[in-house]
Parts: sequence; structure tokens; C-alpha cells
Amino acid sequence: MNKPTPLIDSHGRIHTSLRISITDRCNIRCFYCMPAENVKFRPRDEILTYEEIARFASVAARLGINRLRITGGEPLIRNDLAGLIKRLSAIPGIDDIALTTNGVLLTEQAAALKNAGLQRLNVSLDTLDDDVFFRLSRRRGIDQIIAGIQQANKLGFDKIRLNAIAIKSITEQEIVPLATFARQHDLELRFIEFMPLDADDQWQRQQVLTGDEIKNILETAFCELLPVTRDDASQPAVDFQFSDNQGRIGFINPLSQPFCHHCNRIRITAEGQLRNCLFSTTEWDVRQLLRNKGSDDELETLIRSCVSGKNAAHGIDSDSFIKPQRAMYQIGG
Ligand code: 5AD
Ligand code: SF4
Repeated sequence: MNKPTPLIDSHGRIHTSLRISITDRCNIRCFYCMPAENVKFRPRDEILTYEEIARFASVAARLGINRLRITGGEPLIRNDLAGLIKRLSAIPGIDDIALTTNGVLLTEQAAALKNAGLQRLNVSLDTLDDDVFFRLSRRRGIDQIIAGIQQANKLGFDKIRLNAIAIKSITEQEIVPLATFARQHDLELRFIEFMPLDADDQWQRQQVLTGDEIKNILETAFCELLPVTRDDASQPAVDFQFSDNQGRIGFINPLSQPFCHHCNRIRITAEGQLRNCLFSTTEWDVRQLLRNKGSDDELETLIRSCVSGKNAAHGIDSDSFIKPQRAMYQIGG
């Protein structure tokens, strides 16, 4: 069989990475992602089954997708995630599976996930302080998350990353404690600039705490940060090494340093809508095809059409920017 043409868009970007949201539900309520009250979750019968996800992933893998990331909502609240990871790891062509979690349920599940073939883990950790955590997530439980990170660390995942959101006048004082924690436990910490994906339309440009501002705070508190050469251009983070050799820090700067020109990702929402960008305003209905006995060729056509419809960049700073209808929990981080 001939190898299919890769998933290349009209800007020459080859797509090799698929992010799969498996639920829009979450056990906490981060204000930058979800509304506080009256969250409108999708009914269960609209959510793709694991069989449907695996079928879609195997078609995508034939078109050159080799990396998967499972996201949510909070993926650990869905039943038998380890079962899905096992299934996805068995798909020919999939070399790497990663997971983004808030860590609340990690202590109980880390071993099963690792045994199922999960290699990499991103845990969202914005603070080490339970009161700040409450202000951000409207829930308590930071100790549980820290215990989960330590448990995962003990189990020896290939890579555990901590993702911290950066929001002006809210998270500045968390930067140094988080970096100290990451350095002590040999974990990679990444700061992510606040994006207009909150549910309550509160985002404002001046709330973006930029990677450069955080870098200055870290250099003042610790030591110089030395740039690390990228081995993968599609990685959104700009990485630095502390000059005392105690660890690395990354900055994901979608606002101050957009990385769209190297983007290699597509994403599918929990209810089976394919998107070519976090900020897409168009979606391609995978679920409808899957549930109407669509063939692999039809799925391929739909994936190709999604990829070729991709814009050059998110355009957040342009006057014509339209905030997506969906908030982060409804897309998948
Ligand atoms: N801006 C930036 N990052 C966000 N995340 C959630 N909402 C936003 C937002 N509005 C991050 C979370 C988590 C990942 C899933 O996405 O902090 O690390
Ligand atoms: Fe849940 Fe993650 Fe959204 Fe926070 S950012 S509410 S942990 S899905």
C-alpha cells in the first residue's frame, strides 16, 4: 500500500499531533477555563465512546499523526482511562501518548496509567498555596495534587511537566515557589500566558503576564536563565536552563511570541468535533460520520479538509479576532 500524503495545510505545515479531549467535565472550576456555576456539560450520549476515539485515531495515524495527547475537561474523571491508553498505544504509527491532567486523581491512577503505556504527563499546577488554589479553581485540594505529582515522579514517567498559568496581579507571587518546587523535584515547569478562552468573557489583554516578565522575576530570585536549543520546532515552549544547572523552565507565550507558524496540531473535542486550532470558529463533525457508518475514506477526507482550512495564525491581537464560542474545558487544553 502506498504511503498517504501527509496532512499538510495551505501554509506548508505538516500535522503529526492530535489532541483528544475525552470529557468536558471537571472536578474543579478554574476561572480561566470554566464558569463558576451552571456549567452546561454535554449529555453522555453525545460524547465519543472509546471505540469511536480509537477508530478515529487509527485513521489519523494512517495519515501521519504519530503523537497523541489526552485532555479534558479533566480526563482522569472518565472511567477506565487506562483502558483507552492501552487501546491507543496499540495503534500502528502512534509513537507517543501524553496526558494533561489537573492531578487531583493522580495518586490513585498514576500506576495504572503508566502500566497502560502512558509515557508523558503534564500536570496543571498554578500555585502551591491552598488559598490561592481556591481563588483560581473555586475548590480545595492542593495537597492531593502535590501528592499525585510526587507519586507519579516516584513511578518514573519519562517526563512530568508542570504547567502554570500566568495572569497579571494574580499569579506573580506563585512564580518563585513553583520554580523552587520544580527544581527540588527535578520537574520541568512551564508558564503559559493567559489566553482568551475563559467561559465568562473576562479575559483582557492587559492581564497577560508575559514569559519575559516571568523570566525577569526568576533571574532575580535564582540565577541567569540560559536558552536551550530546541530539538523540536513544533514545541510551543521556549526553554531555558538555570545557569546553576538546577533544572529547566519553559515559556509558552501564545500572546507575546505566537508559535502558530510551527503548529502541527489538530484537536478533537469530547463530542467529536474536529478543530484545526484552539481558536477555530469552524468545526468538522467526526461524530456524525462515525455514527452514520462513515468509511475510513470519508474520515480521511474530513480530516484533510479540516487541516487545509487552517488559518496562518490565531490573530488574537488583530481587530478581526473572534473569540471562539467554546471555552477551554469545551475544547480541550
Ligand atoms: N489560558 C491559558 N491556559 C489555559 N488553560 C486553561 N485555560 C487557559 C487559558 N484561558 C491551561 C490550563 C491547563 C491546560 C489544560 O490549559 O492551565 O494547564
Ligand atoms: Fe478543569 Fe483544567 Fe479547566 Fe481547570 S483548566 S477547570 S482543571 S479542565
